[in-house]
Amino acid sequence: MTHPIDQAFLSLLGANGWLTSDDAAQYGEDWLKKEPSKPLGVARPGTTEAVAGVVRLCAEHNLSLTPQGGNTGLVLASTPRQTDARAVVLSLERLNDIRSIDVVGQTVSVEAGVVLNSLQEACAQHQLTLPMHLGSGGSAQIGGLISTNAGGTHAFRDGMMADLVFGLEVVLPSGDVWRGNRAMLKDNAGYPLRRLFCGAEGTLGVITAATLKLKPRPHQTETLLLACPTLESAQHIVSHGRRIAGALLSAAEFMDETGLYLVASHCSHVANPLEKVAKITLLLEFESPSSQIPLDDAVQNIVTSALENDWATDGVQASSEQQRNDLWELRESITESQRRHGVQLKHDVSVPLQALSEFISVTTERLQEAFPAQLINPFGHLADGNVHFNLSPASTQDETEFLAAADQLNAIVYDAVVEFNGSIAAEHGLGRSKVTLADRSRDRCERLLMKTLKNSIDPRGTMNPGVIVATTDEVPDVPG
Ligand code: FAD
Ligand code: MLT
Ligand code: ZN
Repeated sequence: MTHPIDQAFLSLLGANGWLTSDDAAQYGEDWLKKEPSKPLGVARPGTTEAVAGVVRLCAEHNLSLTPQGGNTGLVLASTPRQTDARAVVLSLERLNDIRSIDVVGQTVSVEAGVVLNSLQEACAQHQLTLPMHLGSGGSAQIGGLISTNAGGTHAFRDGMMADLVFGLEVVLPSGDVWRGNRAMLKDNAGYPLRRLFCGAEGTLGVITAATLKLKPRPHQTETLLLACPTLESAQHIVSHGRRIAGALLSAAEFMDETGLYLVASHCSHVANPLEKVAKITLLLEFESPSSQIPLDDAVQNIVTSALENDWATDGVQASSEQQRNDLWELRESITESQRRHGVQLKHDVSVPLQALSEFISVTTERLQEAFPAQLINPFGHLADGNVHFNLSPASTQDETEFLAAADQLNAIVYDAVVEFNGSIAAEHGLGRSKVTLADRSRDRCERLLMKTLKNSIDPRGTMNPGVIVATTDEVPDVPG
């Protein structure tokens, strides 16, 4: 006997569009496997109208709804709460058409379920690129990237995902469709609604399509891996690189020796071409859409200065696309390696650049004092001050004690972020993971404004409940 709710979604979406709870496991498990949940079912609509139908059906049956893209989110916002017995996951995976690429206007109109790397391949056919790059690009979808306002490796130069959004099509919690998918940079007719849904983490509506800003695809790319004695020396190289090459510098990623130890231990197939593992390893990338600019001259100038000033002690420059990919694989294996190592405490934070090195050394010292048996792995996006301060127990034997110390270790990191005037949430968003932290560390006016926004657009509180702001029945208004 088919459950009436299954029946309702099956008649709306067809067999291919609705998975019952028994087939929903993978959609209920977050990337970090922190809080596996059991959704009532998974809706997989293939059109905007079908998405609107799902939203209306959820309202009719009083079901909560979690929009889901590639499910690579890291803050517990892509899967329902474990306690939510009436939760539906709305997967955008079947809403995956690249509607059109405007070569003259350098924009693309794309549906939410398109995977980032697939979009990049399609744009490359037209010598264009979306300046958004991150390690999860093989799974992360356009809707998820917009909804988390993703940062990634190029953010310091090209902005975050919100800066690349010209237009949006969104299904609102009422089931109405906001058709704002326009292709203009300048579109100032009232409140900037397109900005509202960037970073809303699925709490204000379901993004079904977007128009995004593209750039000419690089004609020349130079990628370097440099061994640096300290983070300051890596920062000297980045500053010099920006003076010499300006906007041709497209990425500046730093890795700590601990992160490379994790890669060597858990992703041993990934090679580190540098002879010795330095305290800090810096990955730099320069690119130019023009064939006329002597890019390599600028790069050689930067490398020479780095070596002459002892900012770098060793280095390698990619001499092929394969070697370039290998250098990026080293950087992008850190996240997966730390996941394979076991439990971890992730801290996606940013601090003003001139304080970054001191912030990392002061916080590391405090952490070591509090709990010596841990691996402290700071790495990330050096040019915008976004450091991923991820902690793991030194070995599985230390796991229980490490988790028992979690609140204390989290407080050490986040208190230091506030002390150094940084952000407790740099690029991954708040999700459910950081709601209490945000209530505690952001001012009352800001948190109440967010609650007002949430309650006015989603008065029934059924869109991704518990994300960004606690549901009203959970916590009192923001203290202080
Ligand atoms: P999901 O995880 O499916 O969802 C994320 C959020 O968006 C949820 O709140 C969900 O409800 C909402 N959502 C999804 N689709 C829609 C939609 N169509 N409409 C409305 N809401 C929607 N992040 C960075 O910013 N920078 C990085 O460098 C980075 N590197 C990463 C590396 C690895 C290996 C991994 C696993 C993750 C990394 N992330 C990074 C985090 C993650 O990839 C990003 O947050 C990404 O934007 C999530 O996209 P997604 O499609 O997987 O979204
Ligand atoms: C990355 O930049 O690799 C991720 O955002 C960091 C993380 O996994 O914490
Ligand atoms: Zn990152």
